[in-house]
Amino acid sequence: MTDPQRECRRCRLADRRTQVVVGRGNPQATVMMVGEAPGRDEDRTGYGFQGAAGKIFDQVLEYLGLSRDTIWLANAVRCRPTDDGRKNRPPLPDEVIACRPWLMDDVRTVNPQVIVTFGRTAWESLTGGSWKDVTAGAPFPLAESRWAVALYHPAYLIYRRAFWPQYRDHLDRLAAFLREMGVSTDPASGPFLTMVR
Ligand code: URA
Repeated sequence: MTDPQRECRRCRLADRRTQVVVGRGNPQATVMMVGEAPGRDEDRTGYGFQGAAGKIFDQVLEYLGLSRDTIWLANAVRCRPTDDGRKNRPPLPDEVIACRPWLMDDVRTVNPQVIVTFGRTAWESLTGGSWKDVTAGAPFPLAESRWAVALYHPAYLIYRRAFWPQYRDHLDRLAAFLREMGVSTDPASGPFLTMVR
């Protein structure tokens, strides 16, 4: 059966995409994670969070004792935002709105207890709230006994090493909440984010 999401033409991003980068992972996951939008690598491979930001994302998962197989991973916008096919750009507000029903479909279908968002776009699309009111790493109640937790986008960390200790505090807060929620986390020992250059 064809997935209507893969045929989506609700916004202009359909014109330049190679494919729709749909959500993936464990369809019964307790934890869902939401990024912003695919870039060139994701558009090519069909997988979320590749490249430099993807390396940091994987380190975050490892730090939390989670993996791509235990969570559900999706993006707020599912087609690569680009004007010329060469450069990625941030998604425009109408593109985020057009894609929101797919995000909400995932939330309904996967039915996670905790939804972790990366960056402003994912937070605002999921919650309808404003990024400026966010406390990173802290649980925020959603409808239907769900919780949202905001984190900064991994791409923000790439050139900001000075921010990493603060990011680790956000992750520690999230890890404590996940334990409280009974999400089994098996934190990997070892230095955080050391593999990323
Ligand atoms: N790749 C994704 O899939 N999402 C992002 O937010 C960034 C890179």
